[in-house]
Amino acid sequence: MSLDVTPNQRPAPTRNMEQIVSLCKRRGYMFQNSEIYGGCNGFWDYGPLGVELKRNIKDAWWHDMVTSHNDMEVLPGAPAIYSMTGIDSTIIMHPQVWKCSGHYDLFHDFMVDCRESKKRYRHDQIVGRWVQAKGKRIFATTQTSEQELEQLERQAMKFFKLRAKNKEQMEWDGDVIALVDLDAEHHESVLAPDAKTLDTLTEPREFNLMFKTTIGALGGENDAAFLRPETAQGIFVNFKNVIDSTRFRLPLGIAQTGKSFRNEITPRNFTFRSREFEQMEIEFFCHPDASGDWYRFWRDRRMQWYQDLGLSADRLILREHAASELAHYSIGTADIEYAFPFLPTGEYGELEGVSHRGDFDLRSHMEGKLTKELELELGEDGKPKHRGSGKDLSYRDDLTNEKFVPHVIEPSAGADRAALAFLCEAYCEDQAPDEKGKMQTRTVMRLHPRLAPIKAAIFPLVKKDGMPEVAKKIYLDLKKHFNVFYDDKGAVGRRYRRQDEAGTPYCITVDGQSLDDQTVTIRDRDSLKQSRVSIDECVAAIQEGLASQ
Ligand code: GAP
Repeated sequence: MSLDVTPNQRPAPTRNMEQIVSLCKRRGYMFQNSEIYGGCNGFWDYGPLGVELKRNIKDAWWHDMVTSHNDMEVLPGAPAIYSMTGIDSTIIMHPQVWKCSGHYDLFHDFMVDCRESKKRYRHDQIVGRWVQAKGKRIFATTQTSEQELEQLERQAMKFFKLRAKNKEQMEWDGDVIALVDLDAEHHESVLAPDAKTLDTLTEPREFNLMFKTTIGALGGENDAAFLRPETAQGIFVNFKNVIDSTRFRLPLGIAQTGKSFRNEITPRNFTFRSREFEQMEIEFFCHPDASGDWYRFWRDRRMQWYQDLGLSADRLILREHAASELAHYSIGTADIEYAFPFLPTGEYGELEGVSHRGDFDLRSHMEGKLTKELELELGEDGKPKHRGSGKDLSYRDDLTNEKFVPHVIEPSAGADRAALAFLCEAYCEDQAPDEKGKMQTRTVMRLHPRLAPIKAAIFPLVKKDGMPEVAKKIYLDLKKHFNVFYDDKGAVGRRYRRQDEAGTPYCITVDGQSLDDQTVTIRDRDSLKQSRVSIDECVAAIQEGLASQ
């Protein structure tokens, strides 16, 4: 038997960030971290629905990229067969790892502080526009955001002490430009984003984004360690271990998921830029001659993965970096970007970067930190600035006997950004009949069934006449196969609505007829169609329904 489902019936999502954030909190997708103490900026917790969603994303990624990968046949678009495996390395690693990877010297942003408001900003995120009133010309600024023009106006009105009805007295001059592009001689005219007086911003200062900690109780500066800012380095330093302990040959992808930490200066846009987040990274090791083809393969394969799980191609772009943006050893870098609703129309936010990294990382861990020109970077004393491990991390092909340092293609995704994109894409308000058949607006999370936190909910129509007993039995049977939910509280229409908000693809209702003929109704979240199914076939019907999309 099969369910009466209508896949791909997807009205456009309702792209209102405030409503999405409110639903996430109300229904337990995400909470502000340490909320009872006022929150901790840049840190987010996942609630009961959110933890399942993120786990499903990571499981789908691991399943699709690693465990179910077919290493016996050439995949469409791939230059050859390849293998995939995984590791799980630690968050704190030998400090030398970050010196050789370049993070110790180079992983920083420029920040400016406001002497008046005591606020701190990322220098590259301040924009402004010249404005003149009452005989004075200033450069009003704000942080980049969708409302930047309104904020600039409010800032300038406050400075000139103008009421809204007199705002025409302000004459705007030129376009909005980045503060970094403003000539230094104009800095005394700058009105900082939250200041009331001019020229309150400090000079930009470098700020390393790695969180520092200390190993051991007596640790001094020499015992300083860092929370990893990416999972990738754990894979590079284990490359030789993986090759030596397995029978894998190249091309080989090594995958890892896990937490990464970056002390972002301005965390924002809900979970988009957090200080603690999870990555899903693959380092794909291959022969240098084939690396260009592998780069193109991975770029396209990863782009397709997001679409297969429900992100619309209309809201996704693959942005190839211009040649001028690339490190010279790199043949290409492409960002997979999504049109998040908090961004201005036409702008996209990065979900994943796919980079061709050449042999930069393996060689750095062998020889020491390399310059952009791939030469050993020397300190003032003429010795290597940061010494490498001295270990041979090259690869010998046992068939051709060729020895080489592999090139690496790196598809590097963020699990939290993926979760946020899937939530934004899923949030939808449409019209559905209530229990009296009257059309009402409903909020529904049209999550792909593989990602939905709860796969099916089971309801007895009423809490009597033996219906709860039948429903509980179905619930326990289904629980062996999927994450399911039992609900017997309130009107059945309201129970449906709660599951719609949770993104549950199927609701199973035990009613009077169930007691006579051992059947139940299964309601499809998206099409709202109801099918009558024998109780014995419930598991198979849900399995089939989940697999059909
Ligand atoms: N190993 C390469 C690397 O880490 P990245 O572009 O800095 O590259 C990869 O990060 C992915 O990690 C990004 O595309 C994004 O999805 C996620 N990510 C990076 N910084 C993040 C942050 N502050 N908050 C949430 N996700 C972040």
